[in-house]
Amino acid sequence: MRVLAGAEVPGVQLSTTTENRAALGLYHKLGFAVTARRVTPLWVPWLGHPAEHLCLTRRLQPADLAL
Ligand SMILES: CC(C)(COP(=O)(O)OP(=O)(O)OC[C@H]1O[C@@H](n2cnc3c(N)ncnc32)[C@H](O)[C@@H]1OP(=O)(O)O)[C@@H](O)C(=O)NCCC(=O)NCCS
Repeated sequence: MRVLAGAEVPGVQLSTTTENRAALGLYHKLGFAVTARRVTPLWVPWLGHPAEHLCLTRRLQPADLAL
């Protein structure tokens, strides 16, 4: 994120599911917030059932240059 902020990229988007508690803990700690959610069959091949897919975003700011 420091490199992206240095390149004046305005923000970062990523995705996971509500089931990946470890990933969500990390993303929230880094300042990401859920901006969209939808139950989808996308994960059925791996999980064996539909999952709630989350999109998380975080704006980058000049302060991120110090990360
Ligand atoms: C996501 C990830 C990078 C987070 O790393 P981290 O911030 O160091 O966090 P940890 O791996 O220590 O996990 C945090 C907590 O979730 C738990 N956890 C980790 N993996 C888990 C799993 N598969 N299922 C349930 N709980 C899990 C840990 O035991 C820990 O619990 P605690 O806080 O009570 O000690 C790391 O868990 C990982 O590499 N996961 C596998 C790949 C992955 O899921 N990537 C994200 C794809 S969206």
